[in-house]
Order: sequence, then C-alpha cells, then structure tokens
Amino acid sequence: MTHFTLDTLSQLNDGYDQPARYAVIGNPVAHSLSPQLHQPALDALDLGVRYVRVEVPVGRVREAFEKMRAAGIEGINVTVPHKLEALEACDEVHPGAKKMGAVNTIVFDGDRLLGFNTDGPGFVRAIREDFQMDLGDLRVAIIGAGGGAGRAIATQCTLEETPQLILANRSLGKLETMKSELSLQSDKLEGPGDRLQIYALDDPALQEALAQSELIINTTSVGLKQHDPAPIPSGWIEPHHLVYDTIYNPARTRLLRNAESQGARISNGLSLLLHQGALSLEYWLGREAPIEAMRKGLRETIQG
Ligand code: ATR
Repeated sequence: MTHFTLDTLSQLNDGYDQPARYAVIGNPVAHSLSPQLHQPALDALDLGVRYVRVEVPVGRVREAFEKMRAAGIEGINVTVPHKLEALEACDEVHPGAKKMGAVNTIVFDGDRLLGFNTDGPGFVRAIREDFQMDLGDLRVAIIGAGGGAGRAIATQCTLEETPQLILANRSLGKLETMKSELSLQSDKLEGPGDRLQIYALDDPALQEALAQSELIINTTSVGLKQHDPAPIPSGWIEPHHLVYDTIYNPARTRLLRNAESQGARISNGLSLLLHQGALSLEYWLGREAPIEAMRKGLRETIQG
C-alpha cells in the first residue's frame, strides 16, 4: 500500500510486526520521498517502528492530527498543500515557523501539538554542506520568491541577516506584500543601500542585481519538466556565482547546466530535502539524526 487515508487509519498496523509511529501528510502524498528518507534512519537507530504516508483532504488537517495521535503516531511531516493549515491547527508554533507562515513538522507533546518549520534551517545546513559557506554571509538572490519554498528561504535569509536579499518573481504583486512583512521582521534589511530589493523576472535591471549577488537560488517550478527552459538567461550567470536549484528531479535542470557551463558552482535540492528531514527527526527524537543512512536511502531511491 503506497499510503493510508483518514478512512483506513484504523488499519494502520494490520499485518505489520512494527507499529507505525511517524508519518507524512499531504495531498497527493503517494509520491512523497519522506519514507525513503526516514525509514532508513529509524532502522539505523534500531527503533523497530514504521514511517507511513497519509493522504489528507484539504480542510481536515486538525481532524487528521487527532486521529493519527489516537492511532499511535508520535511525529508528523507536513507537505503541500497543508503547511498553513497545519500551522493553524497547532497549540504552539515555533517563532521561525510563524514567520514563514508554514509548519512542516509536528511534535506531539502530551496533549499539545507543537509546530516547527525545518525548511529554512535545513537550507542553512544544505548551503554549508554544498558550498562550505554560511547563508548569513552571502548576498542572496531568490528567483521565484513568491512560492512556498521561496518564502521559507527568504524568511530564513532575514533570520540569518544576509547582507543582501534580492527577491524576483514572475508576478510582482506577491513580493510587494512579502517585502513589507520581511522588513518588519528585520530592521537590518532596511535603510541605506536598500538591502532588500524586489524585481519582476522580466525586469532588465535584475541582471545587474544578480551580478551583485553571490548565491542565486531557484525556487520556481520551472525546470521540473524535462524540456523546461531556465528561469533566467544563461548570460546572467557569472563564474563567481553559487547556483542552487531547489528542484532535485531532474538532478541537473537547464539552469544548473547553464550555470556549470558559465563556470559557476552548482547544487540541487537533494541536500535541502535531506537536511529538512534530519531536523524533523531531531525534533521528534531529541537526538542527532543518522544523516548518512538518510542520504543513502535517498540516493538509492533517486538513482534506482
Ligand atoms: P507554491 O510553491 O506556493 O506551491 P507554485 O505555484 O508551485 O507555488 O509556484 C512556485 C513559484 O514558481 C512561484 O514563484 C511562481 O511564480 P508566480 O508567483 O508568478 O506564479 C513560479 N513559477 C511557476 N511557473 C513559472 C513560469 N513559467 N515562469 C516563471 N515563474 C514560474
């Protein structure tokens, strides 16, 4: 069975030796890679428990949490489209998750539901691992900052106090709201030098803004399909750039291939997937995640 539903939760442990203790909810959820990340970790720690997928309809997240708690689930990952609804269902939300407006990790603490967001902090770890740099030291540009992933990374950039933050999006409207929200969160982004700037993707002035950036991140969905173009022209990428594409399948989008031929360093979203998952596990278990087991599980799935 690829996944359970609210109606089949009562059969969660039928026919299994090991009880289900951790889960991911989403809609759809059948293709979530979270089990490939977390089951090897739970096995490496010898916990004798399972990680399962549960499909939850929009509007029924709170009910799902209660039913899952009753079924013995102790920790939950939340994926699209439930991250805001999950935040609203929590009794307590970590300040970082509140700022991102999204919860991707749930911890059951007795009767209370605690919500966290590991996407932003996971990205910090990913950049450290892939480029040996601290996000907070980099002048950052986010292409597609209006989407969910873009918002999480932009918020993390303000928390890390990056010296510059360029937000670009196809439609500018979303960024105008975001600019005022982010500026409220960090007075460091305002003032002389205009450290927080927003651009429409087709604004020619974006090229010069990118030239001043060190890390360029793609958070648009452009590149998910095999023959997708790159979200920015190849000529805008320079050898000094670090280019990170949050897409990991395909492993090398056109953006990354262009960046590589321009002499830039590149990386893809696999490291973000890995580290956000490891941080979730750390919240659930209160101990360090077996990162190599998780990396191996993910590699085997993606390559195999
Ligand atoms: P979410 O991450 O919230 O689910 P999404 O609909 O998947 O959002 O879109 C993610 C990002 O990809 C958005 O920034 C979106 O731009 P808009 O805000 O203008 O919609 C961007 N995006 C999607 N298709 C695009 C395209 N063809 N060209 C440029 N940006 C695109």
